[in-house]
Amino acid sequence: MTQPKTLEQLLAPTGDPAWVLIEEGFDPLRETSVESRFAISNGFLGVRGVRATTRGTRWVAPARTYVAGLFDTPDTTYATPGLVPAADWLQIRLLVNGEPLVQHPGEVRSHRMTLDLRRGALLSESSGLTRADLNVHLKTLRLVSMSERALGLQLIEMTVEAGVVDVTVEASFEGVGLGLLSDRLDQDLGVWHTAHSGKGLAMATAAALQIDGRDVPATALGPFKLTWSWTTQPGQAVSFQRSVAIARGDVKDVDPGHEARDQLDRGQRIGWRGVLVAHEAAWSSRWQRSDVTVEGDAKAQKALRFALYHLNSAANPGDERVSIGARALTGDDYRGHVFWDTEIFLLPFYTLTWPEAARALLMYRFHTLDAARAKATGMGYRGAFYAWESADTGDEMTPTQAVGPDRKIIKILCGTQEQHISADVAYAVWYYWQATGDEAFLLDAGAEIVLETGRFWASRAQPEADGLCHIRGVIGPDEYHEHIDDNAFTNVMARWTIRRALDVAALLRKHWPDRWASLAQRLKLNEVELKQWQNVADVIATGLDPTTGLFEQFAGYFALEDIDLALYAGRSVPMDVVLGRERTQQSQVVKQADVVALLGLLPEEFAGTSGVANFRYYDQRCSHGSSLSRAMHGLAAARLGQSDVALRYFLETADIDLSDTKVAIDGGVHIAALGGIWMVAVFGFGGLTIRDDGIAIDPHLPASWLRLAFSLQWRRSHLKVRIEQARTLIEATLESGEPMTIFIGGEPYELRPGSPVRRSAEAALN
Ligand code: BGC
Repeated sequence: MTQPKTLEQLLAPTGDPAWVLIEEGFDPLRETSVESRFAISNGFLGVRGVRATTRGTRWVAPARTYVAGLFDTPDTTYATPGLVPAADWLQIRLLVNGEPLVQHPGEVRSHRMTLDLRRGALLSESSGLTRADLNVHLKTLRLVSMSERALGLQLIEMTVEAGVVDVTVEASFEGVGLGLLSDRLDQDLGVWHTAHSGKGLAMATAAALQIDGRDVPATALGPFKLTWSWTTQPGQAVSFQRSVAIARGDVKDVDPGHEARDQLDRGQRIGWRGVLVAHEAAWSSRWQRSDVTVEGDAKAQKALRFALYHLNSAANPGDERVSIGARALTGDDYRGHVFWDTEIFLLPFYTLTWPEAARALLMYRFHTLDAARAKATGMGYRGAFYAWESADTGDEMTPTQAVGPDRKIIKILCGTQEQHISADVAYAVWYYWQATGDEAFLLDAGAEIVLETGRFWASRAQPEADGLCHIRGVIGPDEYHEHIDDNAFTNVMARWTIRRALDVAALLRKHWPDRWASLAQRLKLNEVELKQWQNVADVIATGLDPTTGLFEQFAGYFALEDIDLALYAGRSVPMDVVLGRERTQQSQVVKQADVVALLGLLPEEFAGTSGVANFRYYDQRCSHGSSLSRAMHGLAAARLGQSDVALRYFLETADIDLSDTKVAIDGGVHIAALGGIWMVAVFGFGGLTIRDDGIAIDPHLPASWLRLAFSLQWRRSHLKVRIEQARTLIEATLESGEPMTIFIGGEPYELRPGSPVRRSAEAALN
């Protein structure tokens, strides 16, 4: 039997540098970025990577802990709903004669924070907690459990290096009930509710302290405040453990306090060691299913591990009522709102490595389908028009105005005009269905989403005198241009959605005629309407010029001022700030991948050399004013075989959250960009495509990548793919599940348990 690990071992981070992120010292200018980057999360709770040693109560309470789905609207004019932060449950102070030993984080001479990506834990070590009569050394660990998502755990080990003085350790919560209305506040349990949204929150806690292994009784000083007092001795080892259990209440008048207390009791029964062991096992299984390894490029490897860490942290397969906001649960930019980021940049990763999480995220869109239907009806359309920014109800949450870079108030039109969201959701549903074959999901939810979004587009695209159907007055992914007509991305994705809706109808009719009959009846769908959909799909304008193979990004785009972005290469602000809003709108400068995003999502729409032509044209005109942009360019470039360009985009995307010199990340990590990193590696360099009858691999590794390996799940089969640069070798191993087909160089190979397929990509191409 293996010995249980000592506290010393548990508080030591994973040794391999590829698995850890380290931050030394204290830099007040960088603290908030570090808090985002070093955040821990489990898809239900998110805790920013705030340092362990603080002076205690601050002037402004920090929003440290987020609870997925805990939205409310503040009582102000033009208020936008946002996540309400829960209390900070990690406050700890060491008092000597009533004075905190640490007055300010910067006072700790040596402070090292380590994000252990492998174990999903944040560790820290501080020395120099010193005054004339005392010197202590501190190690801490915190986690939010990956196996019991309601639970958080904080461990502290304090060694007294010198000093015989009377000390007090005070453990408290900060910001208790901030932004919430209190229902009850006991010593170890608080219950609150939101002012408007009908949500509840409960937090229950327990803490213990031992000196040299012996329990010291605590003194309760009021809600969430405990103290322990004693006289220090050199060599003393002080251990502290605190657990928190958090419950969100979704139903008015149901007290979430019981659930929080039950969860805490469960945690107490298995003990903090048990919680830690189960958490590490859950992380280990996530890594098993999702790790991507790169040999030959340590920077790329680190970028991937960091991205996978946050992606695995962001989802919760157990909650169909929430989705992942643009900063996940690592910060409050965009107030926790959900965008197309989830369906387009995150779902591919979840669908292929964690289908249970993907399903829950798509079910969120199913539960918000009524709100999408209401939005469509309200604007005079049929079917479902999803919110551009969505929170808990699915109602449109996009603010209608904001302060622009020139400090003038500008109108935000995305909530009504950025309509491609309704195709993006359908895209993710169809992709999930293709990759998983999850019939229950298709029949219970997926089919209805695809049919209702297809119906939306068929009502949105209107026939005109030229015999074509047009979609006028939209915003494409490139948000610099508003109120445009026939955005190629929107129209082609709309056509694709209508066609998939027709496929879904045919599929259900063929295989599940009873289900089709009842669904068609409920949705009041008949043959006449399906025919009308087909007609729209046949004649929708796309802006494709068959002679050049170029899609015009929108009607009139090619006539706009062509600005050479190379002349602005050294700029440090976005192009719309450099040029001003008006001139940007009159120019071909693109905020982010738009036609290139279409190339990334639907490469089959780009025949022959059209992909290369479009990439060349739009790559030069794209200013990458969004964190989502470079990954799409990287994906497209890799698929086109331009591995050097793709690697540059891959590394620039990694820099967004990992480097302190690029973008401010104080408001949270850019989770879509992190999903994009996985997409460039696996879809781009790995050349993976999902087919109805298996998977295909067509790799394009950058020259520096000697080997790339990744895990994925197709239908019920788990497989591992390994690509070797030198021998252009592709090896696929079926780790479990049914035999399946893998296509290499277009040739099908049968993949069976115990007999990996090994093929040279070049040989297969010959
Ligand atoms: C981008 C959108 C994105 C949003 C949230 C915006 O700046 O233009 O495409 O969905 O940020 O990440």
